[in-house]
This record gives sequence, structure tokens and C-alpha cells, in this order.
Amino acid sequence: MPVPTDPQLHSSTSAQLDESDLPLLPETTWQDIINCSFPSWHDQFRGVTFRSKTLALPSEFVDYLNADGIFLPEEGQPQAAATIEEIDDDDDDSETENSDSGDPSIKPNFPAIESFIRDAVQELGGAVFPKLTWSSPRDAAWIAATQSLKCTSPFDVFLLLKSSDFINHDLNHAFENCIGSNSTSEGEGIQHHLVLRKWQDLQPSMEFRVFIKNKEIVAISQRDLTFYNFLEGMKDDIEDMIFDFFEDSVQQVFPSTNYVMDVYVERERRKVWIVDFNPFTPATDGLLFEWSELAQLNFDASSQTDNQEPEFRIIRSEAEANTHVCNGPRFATNMIPRDVIDLSDGRTVAEFAEEFQRAMMLAESQLNDNNSTTSEDDDDDAGHNER
Ligand SMILES: Nc1ncnc2c1ncn2[C@@H]1O[C@H](COP(=O)(O)OP(=O)(O)O)[C@@H](O)[C@H]1O
Ligand SMILES: [Mg+2]
Repeated sequence: MPVPTDPQLHSSTSAQLDESDLPLLPETTWQDIINCSFPSWHDQFRGVTFRSKTLALPSEFVDYLNADGIFLPEEGQPQAAATIEEIDDDDDDSETENSDSGDPSIKPNFPAIESFIRDAVQELGGAVFPKLTWSSPRDAAWIAATQSLKCTSPFDVFLLLKSSDFINHDLNHAFENCIGSNSTSEGEGIQHHLVLRKWQDLQPSMEFRVFIKNKEIVAISQRDLTFYNFLEGMKDDIEDMIFDFFEDSVQQVFPSTNYVMDVYVERERRKVWIVDFNPFTPATDGLLFEWSELAQLNFDASSQTDNQEPEFRIIRSEAEANTHVCNGPRFATNMIPRDVIDLSDGRTVAEFAEEFQRAMMLAESQLNDNNSTTSEDDDDDAGHNER
């Protein structure tokens, strides 16, 4: 059961299924996991996904991401963050002395990566959405000044990557339990990438997760589990759009037989965008489907009989939405990254986050003062006129 894309599912109902409950699930191979990594699929789907830039990461940066503590780039660092940098999570006194005296060895020094981030922010219209090889640091969004993954500086990107358990999962557990893998060392030789995607103001109601088995769509689920009363009326149209898009642009192109595709639907412009690809395993959130159901769904387009129709599920009422909220907060297990607890130095996390956000707002206003001429090119926004 590999877990590269939705590691938060360790806390979800579907992930708690014992594998023996799912005898019909197709096996996921090492190659399937690779196929879902952003650098593997991006080239072939450039025309139907948000503009993005990728950078192969040196092993030193991977070591920095794996290291304890949240040490952030000096440049653009607000005052309070400098304090964070000085707090070491090691109880050893001598370490603390080193930090206090500004030991340069613990400060990140990745000028090429910082400059890649700055250039990407500028080229992609002023703000980016960060990912690593498979995952975004969604579990860490709460620590950012914007409470989102919207990044405008190297500092923003480093902070999110360093604070996220999902990113750690990409680095150390991506190949767990897939076939062809006999140990976690399968991931050791992987070239990791930093991915910066043009920031899009997406409407969560228009995001859908599409489950593909034997190269056919077997199920579609609303991705944001909120009740949107307008969805029912447009469901058939959205379903047609997703099926047409899949047949025209994905079915013959994506190399795996079984996979999960996340899409964004822009009805006004009759466009469907690929947001991400994920492995067909319970590690990927089944959303409105249980994996025990997905394991049994089959659809053979060439056969006239014995076919279950692919099912498209949406939330139909507030009450139904509440049942999903009641299942617990989405990132319950990793809401507070361990590093941050360690670094909070006696402060509550709320105090810590508040102080951090204040500092970030200050830094942002200073940046705006220094740089009042940022122009934004919206031509390729979803919702505007993208390629
Ligand atoms: N370019 C983007 N700009 C703004 N938000 C985005 C962008 N790409 C993705 N998102 C949002 O982030 C969520 C997670 O993105 P995704 O690429 O699927 O990462 P993950 O694999 O970590 O879940 C999406 O559901 C979408 O709401
Ligand atoms: Mg994903």
C-alpha cells in the first residue's frame, strides 16, 4: 500500500481498512508510483494542466528537508522567524550556544534554489503553489501567514516544505508496500524535484477525483466534501465533460492501468484541467467511496453486458456534509508538525503561530514597500484564458 500522494489518509476510515479486506484491489507497482510523480507526467500533459516549473533537487537540500528543526533562509526573513531559527529542538546546551552565536552550518544555503523560486514566482504571475515529487504540504498550510499554500518568496516555500509531514512522506515512505519494493530503500535513489505551479484561485466545488481501473473510469467523487446546492443541477454536464476529457486527453496517454486522476472543471470555458495523478491504492483518499467499493467496481467499455455504470457521487445535503466533518479534521494526525512543537519553546502553538503570522505580515508589507511594481499576468489562469 504505497502512500505518495495522500499520506494524511493514515487517519481516514478508508486507510484503516486491512489489506485483507480488499482482495480485489489490483497491485500497485513501483512503476505506478513513479508514473504519478509530477516530473513523470507533467511533460505529456502540459497543455491541460496549470503552468509549472520543476527543479531537480540536490541531495543536500533533501538532507536539509529531512533534518530536525525549521531553519529558514536568511533573506527576507522577518524578525520573529529569526528567533525561531535560533531555537534548537535539541536539549543539548552546547547546540543552543551554537545557535545563539549564529552557527552558519545550520542555516540553509541554497542560492540556486532560492533564485529558482524567485524566478518562478515572477514568471508564473506573482504567486506559486509548491509541491515536492508527489505531494503538496497541505498539512502545513495553517502555519503560513495566508493560511494557504500561496507562496511569493523562498521563505514561504521553505517554511511550508519544512513544516509538512506530507513532504517528509514523499522523501522517506513513497514506495512503502508497493510490489517490487522490499524495503524503504527503494526510494533512496529517487531524484526529488521541487515543483512550483502557477497559483490558481480555484473553486473547490469544481474539483473532482476520478478513479480509473483497467484504463476505464469506474467512479467519480466530489473532492471538497462540502454541500454545494448548485452541483446537483450541473452534475450530468460535469460528468460528460470529464468523460470526454478523459477519452480525448488521458486514456491513451497515462501509462498506468489503474490510477486516480484529480481534475478541475471550468464549465464556462468547457475546459477540464488535470490537477494531479495518484496511485490506485487506499493511500489515496477514496473521498465519497470506500476502497472496498472501489475494489469491486469494474467497467469494460467494449462489453455490452455485465457492466456497472460508473458512479458519480456528490454531497447532497448539509447533513451529509456534516457526517464527513464528524469523521474528524482532515489532517488530525499531522495538524501540528513535530518540529514546530519542539521549536515552540514553551509557547503554545497558537501563540507561536500568531507571532509567526505577525512577522510574516510585517515582512510582506516591507516587501510591498520595496517592490510596488509587481504586475500580474492573468492570461493563463484557470477561469481566464489559459493555453
Ligand atoms: N496551482 C494551484 N493553485 C492553487 N491551488 C492549487 C493549485 N494546485 C492545486 N491546488 C489546490 O491544492 C489541492 C491539492 O493539490 P494536489 O496537487 O492534488 O496536491 P496533493 O497531491 O498534495 O493533494 C487541490 O485540491 C487544489 O485545491
Ligand atoms: Mg495528489
